[in-house]
Amino acid sequence: MIVLGIETSCDETAAAVVDDTRTIRSDVVLSQLDDHRPFGGIVPEIAARAHLDALDSIIARALAEAGLGFDALDAVAATGGPGLIGGVIVGVMTAKAIAAARGIKFVAVNHLEGHALTARLTDGIEFPYLVLLATGGHCQLLIAEGVGRYRRLGTTMDDAVGEAFDKGAKMLGLPYPGGPEVERRAKSGNAKRFDLPRPLKGRAGCDFSFSGLKTALRHAIEALPPGRLGEGDVADACAALQAAITEVMVDRTRNAIRQFRALHPQGETLVVAGGVAANLTLRTALAVLATEHGLRFIAPPQRLCTDNGAMIAWAGLERLRLGLSDGLDFAPTPRWPLDPRPARP
Ligand code: KG4
Ligand code: ZN
Repeated sequence: MIVLGIETSCDETAAAVVDDTRTIRSDVVLSQLDDHRPFGGIVPEIAARAHLDALDSIIARALAEAGLGFDALDAVAATGGPGLIGGVIVGVMTAKAIAAARGIKFVAVNHLEGHALTARLTDGIEFPYLVLLATGGHCQLLIAEGVGRYRRLGTTMDDAVGEAFDKGAKMLGLPYPGGPEVERRAKSGNAKRFDLPRPLKGRAGCDFSFSGLKTALRHAIEALPPGRLGEGDVADACAALQAAITEVMVDRTRNAIRQFRALHPQGETLVVAGGVAANLTLRTALAVLATEHGLRFIAPPQRLCTDNGAMIAWAGLERLRLGLSDGLDFAPTPRWPLDPRPARP
């Protein structure tokens, strides 16, 4: 089975061809960062227009790099939500048009499921496993029990973890997206100089909160002499922010491992997924945590952590293998929780 995957829910226009032997035949990602950078964040209207302009040629490139034509495809999958609705509509409409013109199946993929299933594409792991889903829009701990079957153990009460990196970076005068920039600057910084809080650390449960951290960082910056935010200050603040975020993530994940073990004593894997999973400090800390608990740790290669078409093609394939596909009347949706049950009963 060969599937084309299309991802347009945020600021990457991406298309990929993946087959059911877990081979990524092609994976093309076009970042719109240069379009959004002057605004210090993503502008939804600009994103939708850029997806519209680029998507056809990105799909053509994905097929060319795979050495295939449309006739080789068994299905086309596109992110159906959650995300910026204008972009999601562009991807879904394009996928539906291909499916209708070629008489092949269409699958609407939940973007978060794309991230959560990536470890099955890269490492072929079995359900159930524990996933820390850390993106620019979400921060959740989930047990993946099967395709379309997720149990949410915790979520953020305010900002997503990627947002904490992005907003922190913005305060420090660093460009969007903040995560990679904070990681780079943190290397030469002293994480102990600024004393930032570890929100919810040591508390029961698996929820997250990052807004207090953001405020504390602002106060730390404001306490410096005016106009004196030098390279060294920025590096120290980045190191402190990254250390605080990592410590909180590890603490929350530790609690989640206990719950995972109680529900699935045979479960053996911890996965980190989503754009923030590209962060090496976080990956290393989670690897140590997993080892302490006798769990295998999987972090997909960095380019498969940030948004891409391969994860959408793969999630589509997983659904198709179970006989699931969608009608051409599928409605793109800005909100689409993986586990619709409330996080806190
Ligand atoms: O999954 P993703 O590509 O898009 C969403 O679905 O949101 O995640 C983007 C987020 C951004 O907030 C970005 O700052 C963060 O991932 N990110 C990182 C790193 N690379 C990307 N955060 C920390 N360290 C990184 N190396
Ligand atoms: Zn994403």
